[in-house]
Amino acid sequence: MLGKSLITGILISSGFLVASTAGAQDAANGKEIVNAACNVCHQLNQRVGGGYSPENWSKVLRMMQNQGLSLTPDQLIAAREYLIATYPEKPKPEPKLVDGPVKVSMQAWQAPTPGSRPHDPLGAKDGSIWYTGQMANVLGRVNPTSGEIKEFPLKTPHSGPHGLMEDRDGNIWYTGNTGSLMGKLNPKTGLNTEYPLPSSKPMDPHSLAIDQQGIVWFTAQVGNRVGRLDPKTGEIKLLTPPTENSRPYGIMVDSKGLVYFVEFGANKVGRIDPKTLKITEFELPNKDSRLRRLVITQDDTIWYADIWRGYIGHLDPKTGRVEEFLSPSGSGSQPYGMSLIDNVIWYSESGTKPGTVVRFDPNTKVFQSWPIPGGGYIVRNTSVTPDGNFALANSLTNEVTLVRIAK
Ligand code: HEC
Repeated sequence: MLGKSLITGILISSGFLVASTAGAQDAANGKEIVNAACNVCHQLNQRVGGGYSPENWSKVLRMMQNQGLSLTPDQLIAAREYLIATYPEKPKPEPKLVDGPVKVSMQAWQAPTPGSRPHDPLGAKDGSIWYTGQMANVLGRVNPTSGEIKEFPLKTPHSGPHGLMEDRDGNIWYTGNTGSLMGKLNPKTGLNTEYPLPSSKPMDPHSLAIDQQGIVWFTAQVGNRVGRLDPKTGEIKLLTPPTENSRPYGIMVDSKGLVYFVEFGANKVGRIDPKTLKITEFELPNKDSRLRRLVITQDDTIWYADIWRGYIGHLDPKTGRVEEFLSPSGSGSQPYGMSLIDNVIWYSESGTKPGTVVRFDPNTKVFQSWPIPGGGYIVRNTSVTPDGNFALANSLTNEVTLVRIAK
């Protein structure tokens, strides 16, 4: 790889004509390689989204290699050239930042394995910050005091650890997205227990929540299921929401043990009654609403991030009443990972460059926001530390960020 890129580098510096001829050959070759190699696990055109900068195409390819993409060094160079030329980064709007009285500082740690794609962060009870290294097939643990990071490898290769939660005994639970499994890690022993989903169809286990009884609830987006896992028996029950292709996404439990999840394939919020396992859906007023994450405030009402429309919204399940607030960066802001800290809502905007951290106080309805150093993108989920700070996983920059909130 080094040899070839060195040669390409010399050609480019020695003259435009030579470089562009070499580039055209590589691109033709690159197209065939990409068509053959990049539509195996997914359709490439459904993944390229807003395109990538040359540097970030290298990061994406590194992630895909971790996930099992197998190309020779020469093929990789040609594929990269073609991807850079065909799917350049589309400009993203700058964020609209809102000033305010709250002070924060942000610190980031690089995941040790390049191309890990940290997906979910988790503020654990002992003060450490965990993340799912989705493409590296590890759970990572950051000690924010010492900066030490430990990676815990998982059993099934390429299981795609995605969602992340801690139970009351300190076990770390995750969804194994590509492995179609639920998993548990005991950090003291390193023991990894896997619970395969009882289905041969692609299920896409996604996000999870643990209720007051220790039952693990999870969403399976592509499979259109929500799941109930009893850790005592290991039994998994899969439930089907009434709406077809509803794409169950973020999931949370309220103070009474009712399980709420948001749907990314419809303008709906679902609720599971844990006793009857019956699912009720709440329809939101705007048919274009597509929700990715939610939080439940102390009054057991729902706040959601509407990524398509750039709003955050409030649903009172008792009355069905909905109120919505445009996120500071507007309709293209793409509100995404959301957490609740001292009954105040914190979330990320992922549609801007750089991405932002936003604070919204549901009592005063006042916003405040900050840019994420290094761009931050893409923050797909967030979490809270026991001392009330905000944790982010940045999948493309391969980082975990701690937002310390001055008290
Ligand atoms: C071994 C399976 C596999 C192969 C082969 C593969 N991918 Fe992926 N790709 C994934 C998975 C898993 C994801 C993440 C989950 C998802 O979006 O489905 C992903 C996501 C992506 C994303 C979105 C990245 C992000 O962080 O949002 C891009 C872009 C992408 N792939 C490009 C490629 C390209 C280009 C190739 C060929 C050079 C390729 N993939 C080959 C498995 C694969």
